[in-house]
Amino acid sequence: MIYLDYNASTPVDREVKKELICALDTYGNPSSLHEQGQKARSMMDEARAKVADFIGAFPDEIVFTSGGTEANNLAVLGFAGGSLAVSSIEHSSVLKPCNQLTVKGLIVHYLQTDETGIVKPHTMPKGVSLVSVMLTNNDTGVIQPVSELAEKAHTSGAIFHADAVQAAGKIKIDVRELGVDVLTLSAHKMYAPKGIGALFVRRGLKVSPLMHGGSQEKTIRPGTESTALAAAFAKACEVASRRMDEDEKRIRRLRDMFEAAVTAKVRECKINGAGSPRVSNTSNITFSGLKGDTLIINLDLAGLCVSGGSACSSADFKPSHVLLAMGSSEDEARSSVRFSLGRDTTESEIILASEIVADTVNSMRAKIW
Ligand SMILES: Cc1ncc(COP(=O)(O)O)c(C=O)c1O
Repeated sequence: MIYLDYNASTPVDREVKKELICALDTYGNPSSLHEQGQKARSMMDEARAKVADFIGAFPDEIVFTSGGTEANNLAVLGFAGGSLAVSSIEHSSVLKPCNQLTVKGLIVHYLQTDETGIVKPHTMPKGVSLVSVMLTNNDTGVIQPVSELAEKAHTSGAIFHADAVQAAGKIKIDVRELGVDVLTLSAHKMYAPKGIGALFVRRGLKVSPLMHGGSQEKTIRPGTESTALAAAFAKACEVASRRMDEDEKRIRRLRDMFEAAVTAKVRECKINGAGSPRVSNTSNITFSGLKGDTLIINLDLAGLCVSGGSACSSADFKPSHVLLAMGSSEDEARSSVRFSLGRDTTESEIILASEIVADTVNSMRAKIW
């Protein structure tokens, strides 16, 4: 089995697993005053400091959540007071809360992208209170000009949120350099377990909680903290900082090799977002004339695990809204597949994967063309 679906989720890193298992022994509640509780509290403090350090933030600017979805919901629903502007290529965990706000009467502007998948700063409307544009797109890997967009948002008095779930561990993130006010992270996209993520909230900003309960996470996210998951997430940040440059170069070489091999062996295929800056691991390819869901099943039968993008589940294969926003037709978007490489991907896997893709696509086409 060759796994090329790292944008969906990553295996847990060996060091992270060790940290998690060790941390499970600290079972106290961080809110308890006794020794076990205080041990758990200091683990939370240490984890918070490491996650903060990973993105150039202060520890008190980190709010732990259950993952990227919750952090994005908190960012949209917790700050929205007036109208909003979000890009049309955001993840559903940004777009769906926006729909909810529209039902309540708030106005949501959707920022368009060009055909290379880049959100243009000049399309930002004036007078909005919150702008949300992702740092890296999950379907195409395209990196958005977030610092430029944040500056533009600030000139009209808006708060700027960036979903950095698909950027973390792939490119350096510094919240001050980016100039963002709020930023989302998810641990399971960076070789840590599922069930934890974080929202960076710049000092001085007030966010309304989604849930109500105890005073954990400064009441922004009540509920007993998972010290073990926080420790694992922090370790993943540490490992990512250490490995990022090396991983980036190695994975980029493999991704480029994969794309060159596939485009040489398969005619009429298009790499989406290829004209834009992209993270090193993602390759989104349209194979004209084929149904993406059937192709994914056939690739799986041949031993290759890939996805159609975030909107895809086996029961519900929708064309990617990201590709539609970039100008693809419904048919083109439906015939697109996302390949995402990661730390454990090897050169021999890439050679084999490109052969599997070429054989599968060419034999499927031979039956219909
Ligand atoms: C860009 C982006 N944002 C948010 C999420 C949601 O993160 P989580 O799976 O941690 O809820 C995902 C997951 O695919 C994503 O790709």
